[in-house]
Amino acid sequence: MRTLIRHGTVVNADGPRRADVLIDGERIAAIGTSLPAEADRVIDATNRVVLPGGVDVHTHLDMPLGDIRTADDFESGTIAAACGGTTTVIDYATQTKGGSLRGALDTWMALAEGRAVVDFGFHMCISDLRPDVEAEMDAMVSEGVPSFKLFMAYPGRLMLNDGEIFRVLRRTAANGGLVCLHAENGDVIDVLVREALAAGHTAPRFHALTRPPLVEAEAVHRGIAFAELAGAPLYIVHLSSAEALGEVSAARRRGVRVLAETCPQYLLLSDEAYEGDQFDGAKFVMSPPLRSRETPDALWRGLAEGDLQVVATDHCPFLLGQKARGRDDFSRIPNGAPGIEPRLSLLYDEGVRGGRIPVERFVEITAAAPARIFGLYPQKGAIAVGSDADLVVFDPSGTTTISAATHHMRVDYNPYEGRTLGGAVETVVARGDIIVDRGRFVGAPGRGRFLKRAPFRPRSS
Ligand code: URP
Ligand code: ZN
Ligand code: ZN
Repeated sequence: MRTLIRHGTVVNADGPRRADVLIDGERIAAIGTSLPAEADRVIDATNRVVLPGGVDVHTHLDMPLGDIRTADDFESGTIAAACGGTTTVIDYATQTKGGSLRGALDTWMALAEGRAVVDFGFHMCISDLRPDVEAEMDAMVSEGVPSFKLFMAYPGRLMLNDGEIFRVLRRTAANGGLVCLHAENGDVIDVLVREALAAGHTAPRFHALTRPPLVEAEAVHRGIAFAELAGAPLYIVHLSSAEALGEVSAARRRGVRVLAETCPQYLLLSDEAYEGDQFDGAKFVMSPPLRSRETPDALWRGLAEGDLQVVATDHCPFLLGQKARGRDDFSRIPNGAPGIEPRLSLLYDEGVRGGRIPVERFVEITAAAPARIFGLYPQKGAIAVGSDADLVVFDPSGTTTISAATHHMRVDYNPYEGRTLGGAVETVVARGDIIVDRGRFVGAPGRGRFLKRAPFRPRSS
């Protein structure tokens, strides 16, 4: 099957250009201005931009949390991703206490295979660092799971201590892995949470008040110091505050190999969402929490200047009924919010149309950089001859109105409810298949394939 996308503006991370794209089977076969018109299918992209399929490297699909699970499984979550222009996801598999990394990988593979509609990979969360687990990390790297999430928060459940974090970093320095760090000081947070509850402060806004920016910045600083000591690269996940960004920027200026991701919620929302004592704020209970109204400007600057490299979603959807278990105690509200679907539209509207970043930087932070950092480039993240034919035909003069009534995520609220955004995802091609046709999902569940990723390689340029 040959598909020709004609008359569009192709945007890669190095800039836009007018060109047609010829797809042959699953790959891009040619890019140019005078391609032969014979094809089985032609997509007219006049007045459209043609983007590499989005790469979302931070999702939690079908994730267990005690006796509940996140609301999207790999089918509904990746359908929503596809409708928003994302054609690759990397989800977090999590080791159980006493369990092995292999066991976690098998569990998550069984959740994804046969359901995912876009290609997927996994990071591995380490929650129990026994010596055998440390050794198992090498096998994960060689089997295409070369990134490991470590938690500095959630003591007793997921948190590793400083020595354990250092051991994992040293192992990755040797085996080509990359640590993805959840940087919040869990012990300090626990003290603040206990004090707040003892004082009768139970409303959702106390979630944010007990996780102030300094507990994030301190953890980022500590994580960077350990990475420097270990001689390992480091990737900070879901960075949310100007204070934490300051630590990353300072380290990068010293030449430390630290990379960082932020998320649309930190770029577009603020802690005003928690105002009052109404329980509505539970929709925005996530860790780290939303920050001050000034924070988005600082984070956008970080993205524009290069100290932040990636915007991923941290899609972690819980139903309002699940959030309600924390009605009388904010610390019992399941942490996380939905976001896998509107990432590209939100960032295009606020970032490109809003004049904060050029369109090629938008492609870099949503597709090229995440693919490069996580060992998928140029198979993913680029419109290039030989790359997978993952493309988005995006209408910059269309509009997208966000609502839980129309979104594809299987969750009963949307943090951006009612916003109308400039720009619309029109057609999405994944490995040569049209999976979204003029806004309608037409793909097949189970067509997504596991992506065996390459070890981390620092960029030479
Ligand atoms: O609140 C959040 N972010 N929940 C998802 C788990 C995590 O820490 O990324
Ligand atoms: Zn996290
Ligand atoms: Zn997460």
